[in-house]
Amino acid sequence: MSKKELQVAIDGPASAGKSTVAKKIAHRFKYVYCDTGAMYRTVTLKAMQQHVALDDAAALAEMLKTTQIEFKPGNPEQLVFLDGQEVTMAIRQPDVTNNVSTVAAQGTVREDLTERQRQIAEAGGIVMDGRDIGTSVLPKAEVKIFLVASVEERAQRRFKDNAEKGIHTPMDVLRDEIQTRDHKDSTRAISPLTQAEDAIRLDTTSLSIDEVVDKISDIIVKKQKEFA
Ligand code: DC
Repeated sequence: MSKKELQVAIDGPASAGKSTVAKKIAHRFKYVYCDTGAMYRTVTLKAMQQHVALDDAAALAEMLKTTQIEFKPGNPEQLVFLDGQEVTMAIRQPDVTNNVSTVAAQGTVREDLTERQRQIAEAGGIVMDGRDIGTSVLPKAEVKIFLVASVEERAQRRFKDNAEKGIHTPMDVLRDEIQTRDHKDSTRAISPLTQAEDAIRLDTTSLSIDEVVDKISDIIVKKQKEFA
């Protein structure tokens, strides 16, 4: 296997820093970045727009048959398109955030998106972040990272992120939302958020983004040498 073909799976709870770190890693190694949370968010947005019940697995499966989700390079953010329409900001709005766990718990939705994610990752040279990448989507990924951080730290990060996007949600609401989402994501029947046995756990609470990126980069370089 050549250097370019590694699959890097980064899992962890909401706001543990996965997407920021994954983007930087992808940039450093010239890998493709795939934000699987954005895919669940996009399906949630479409279901809400079309008044499809968010827990109706069959109706969601039907809707997905005619749903196109695309990522396109943007600056600084990767852009997300739903059926040709840009939804990058729309999928980050609080109503989508608070409903996405329900949609992500539906088996039909997980099956469909898992298949799409495997196709995106097939050629390797990919950094994919989510909840079940190392356990379910890419069980053979050469590098698996499980990022964690305290609830307080994650609420503060989300507060800052939100403020930059002009969304103003109080800290106590964010703490509650994070805890609720952690609970739903970790206790759902299908592909719950769990650390893969062979994943490396990194607590990012007291680390800077660059420190986390450096630690993961070292792990990738080591693996690349093994596969060189
Ligand atoms: O990472 P995020 O906050 O954008 O993810 C949005 C939601 O999607 C999150 O509540 C859990 C779900 N999700 C999932 O179930 N599986 C994934 N691989 C990625 C996200």
